[in-house]
Amino acid sequence: MCGIVGYIGDREAADFLMDGLAKLEYRGYDSAGIAVYHDGAIAVRKKAGRLVNLAEAVKAHPVVGTVGIGHTRWATHGGPSDVNAHPHTDEKGDFAIVHNGIIENYMELKEELLKKGYHFKSETDTEVVAHLCADMYDGDFTSTVRKVLSRLRGSYSLVFMCKFEPDKIICSKKDNPLIVGLGQGENYIASDIPAILSYTRKTYIMNDGEIAIVMKDNVWVTDLEGKPISKKVFEVNWDAEAAEKGGFEHFMLKEIYEQPKAIKDTMSCRITKDGKHVHFEELNWTPEDVNSIGKILITACGTAYHAGLLAKYFIEKLARIPVEVDIASEYRYRDPLTDSKTLCIVVSQSGETIDTLAALKEAKRRGARSLAITNVVGSSISREADQVAYTWAGPEIAVASTKAYTTQLVTLLLLSLYMGRLNGNLSVEREEKILADLTKLPDQCQGVFDQVDTIKGLCDAFKNKEDVFFIGRSMDYGLAMEGALKLKEISYIHAESYAGGELKHGTLSLIEAGVPVIALATQVEVEEKMISNIKEVKARDAYVVGVVQEGDTEVGKTVDALIKVPASDDFVIPILAIIPLQLLAYYIAVSRGNDVDKPRNLAKSVTVE
Ligand code: F6R
Repeated sequence: MCGIVGYIGDREAADFLMDGLAKLEYRGYDSAGIAVYHDGAIAVRKKAGRLVNLAEAVKAHPVVGTVGIGHTRWATHGGPSDVNAHPHTDEKGDFAIVHNGIIENYMELKEELLKKGYHFKSETDTEVVAHLCADMYDGDFTSTVRKVLSRLRGSYSLVFMCKFEPDKIICSKKDNPLIVGLGQGENYIASDIPAILSYTRKTYIMNDGEIAIVMKDNVWVTDLEGKPISKKVFEVNWDAEAAEKGGFEHFMLKEIYEQPKAIKDTMSCRITKDGKHVHFEELNWTPEDVNSIGKILITACGTAYHAGLLAKYFIEKLARIPVEVDIASEYRYRDPLTDSKTLCIVVSQSGETIDTLAALKEAKRRGARSLAITNVVGSSISREADQVAYTWAGPEIAVASTKAYTTQLVTLLLLSLYMGRLNGNLSVEREEKILADLTKLPDQCQGVFDQVDTIKGLCDAFKNKEDVFFIGRSMDYGLAMEGALKLKEISYIHAESYAGGELKHGTLSLIEAGVPVIALATQVEVEEKMISNIKEVKARDAYVVGVVQEGDTEVGKTVDALIKVPASDDFVIPILAIIPLQLLAYYIAVSRGNDVDKPRNLAKSVTVE
């Protein structure tokens, strides 16, 4: 949700800024821009549309200089246009600003500045910050920034530059991510780690209310009053290659194929060497800790919410603790029944989703204990929660989440086993059986990848359709929701997911000849019921693709096409069965000529409400 970068050193700033923005483009791609200081002036280049448009503008009119800031935008206030693109400057061009977030009181500030005679060029909330800098400038850049920040309400990560003090760039944050990369004789600012990975692994993860004064050889961090703060250096352990496409046509495809490793990395540190038990060293819960949980609340957004829906089945069946799953943006506004007996589990790949972060804060305010399941070490959500269990998926760059989802499922399944054993609701045999199947999972992914030609072959039946239905029962219902989301977000085909038994309560009227239905029938317990539901849509001449476990002999008799996934335990199979749905969505989107990694109107890491 907007990417910001900054550079100060001896090299050409534009090179780092353009490279960093390319790495952050997944955060927004409505427009991009850079500002570079040289010889007493700040030069700005900005363009609506993808980064390539900015690259052409910079090529046509190069900017030289060794200090600069940059931005890639996901439009909130003001449509995607050159003029609304960041950086924003004050009228004289003394200050340049890039911003991720929303300045909630910008109308009030704008009116105040208009009355004083300032002229606005854009429709953005950010421009007020640039004019405020000019208005409040007291001869000292740092103290001016402090004063400006004290006037802002809302969420932001902001980077400021000032032509009167080109030896520094200044940044600060509230509720939006910001890191400072520490180099030698040069320093960097970015919203997210991938932007700086090829330059340095040493970072300061900025906290709300901190200001970093970033110079070529030094970085000073203070609070909003100017009191020095001593920061711990955080070493990033991702390698730069992990954030590159590595020969794949798209990040999404690469990330789908990285799932065996991501799953292995996420589970191997949590299963004892003999493969028989789960241990979460980072949690270190006692039976009393688990017995004191009256209810679990899982809250998250999008794909992470879908992982939560499956976790309800895992936890309730294996640990017998009641689970409520809530969309984060709904949770906080419904006066929820959360108290000190609630364990709130938030699930978030980025660890920065503002709705999830706000839900977590709300649950804590109501007395809940909290646990974050997130992929990004040091992210806002990881720091806000009482405890954290990381998914070790590595950087996920494609907007459509794949390996983060499967590693979330693995973590949640392991957590259910852990709790079930601690509270005595899970037998040793059941735990061992599920773990035995779970440990086979990374190798079994290959069984799905082997079917890629079958999956590609199905694309013709889907690519010109307007609606697709996904149906499933039990855990397959949760999977149907995720399968439909994947298809919608990258192929732009409308898709709906239904519990198999729910079709006859209305939706069946939408089924007519040739309508594609993906029928998930991997859950042995409900297979017969699912076959009846498949027959209901077949009787209306739907085109049905079944997804079954290898060895299934029944579903194939009813459907038009079949995707088989290697057989496994009912709790493990959803983690395998989502992979063909990811691949199907991917190849349909490619066949429609869509930009798979950057689907229209979306962005990775949604840091606005
Ligand atoms: C869909 C997708 C989104 C995210 C959602 C939450 O493919 O990626 O639905 O799952 O925006 O993001 P995180 O997990 O970063 O909180």
